Amino acid sequence: MHIKLAVLPGDGIGPEVVDQALDVTKAICRKFGHQLEYAYAICGAHAINEVGDPYPAETHRHCMESDAVLYGAVGDPRFDNDPTAKVRPENGLMAMRKQLGLFANIRPIQTFDCLVHKSPLKDHLVRGADFICIRELTGGMYFGEKYESDDMAYDTDIYTRQEIERILKVAYDYARQRSKHLTVVDKANVLASSRLWRKVAQEMAAHESDITTDYMFVDNASMRMIQEPKFFDVMVTENTFGDILTDEGSCITGSMGLLPSASIGTYTSVYEPIHGSWPQAAGKNIANPLATILSAAMMFDYSFHLKDEAQLIRLAVDASLQQNIRTSDIQVEGLTPCTTTDVGAWICRYIDQY
Ligand code: IPM
Ligand code: MN
Repeated sequence: MHIKLAVLPGDGIGPEVVDQALDVTKAICRKFGHQLEYAYAICGAHAINEVGDPYPAETHRHCMESDAVLYGAVGDPRFDNDPTAKVRPENGLMAMRKQLGLFANIRPIQTFDCLVHKSPLKDHLVRGADFICIRELTGGMYFGEKYESDDMAYDTDIYTRQEIERILKVAYDYARQRSKHLTVVDKANVLASSRLWRKVAQEMAAHESDITTDYMFVDNASMRMIQEPKFFDVMVTENTFGDILTDEGSCITGSMGLLPSASIGTYTSVYEPIHGSWPQAAGKNIANPLATILSAAMMFDYSFHLKDEAQLIRLAVDASLQQNIRTSDIQVEGLTPCTTTDVGAWICRYIDQY
């Protein structure tokens, strides 16, 4: 197969973790005889500095012409601490999501047996937890009308029936491939947008009789995720709730450095770790590359339908954990942590020798 990849490393630790995922992608292509063509493009703070735009037209064109996008992270404390900034790195991420039509963000929350102790939750609660959060990504408060003055500000949580139906359809497809249990998370007791979500979901559920659909308020869902994470199989929710719940989900897995994601929709899909740019760690070679490497596995799976390739990446990641080839966030107490490049190189070697 010929694979054309757009590589958008972004800011902070983005370039370091993306380098490792790209090396793993190359190793997989070598192993399975795929031709890989890739080119870098700028985004985030990095792109603001260079061309004044966090998602330049040139970068968008490049993404549109590629088969998949491997994405690092964007963000810079320079902007976080300046509420008056006219343009922010995050605006670039929003522009990319909107322009590529990435309405579905797939975030698997899994546990690794050898890392259950890393979770602040009790072992028996998290061991074996395995669910997918499907987060709507191009609607809601993130994109609704905004107003900002010194005395008042608002964001509008707006959803159309069509937006709700298309994300629910994705969720039902996933539920069908898994344990056939879908939880729709909303705040229908308070929010009008949530009431539309629930109405549309109930209508669809009537036609999806092979799937058990249940409904949960977001406050309750955030508690249930801690109390009984194994209750969930596929969860679907709006943009803002999904953002918050998936950070909470990382506590089940044990480290933000382990959670991959795929953003899919109308045009080219984007694969990125759910962690941010962690600017304090940039350039130190300490960031965990596994979330990005596992995002590359999702890319082989979803964009190219290459299951064996995806499986070998996951096998290599499991092996690295077994051998304690781990960065500091997950290293066993008393053992020296590995660097970002150590972990990436070890996984590439494992794939080469497999
Ligand atoms: C995420 C991130 C982004 C979001 C930020 C960086 C704008 O937290 O992908 O979850 O809120 O969507
Ligand atoms: Mn987030």
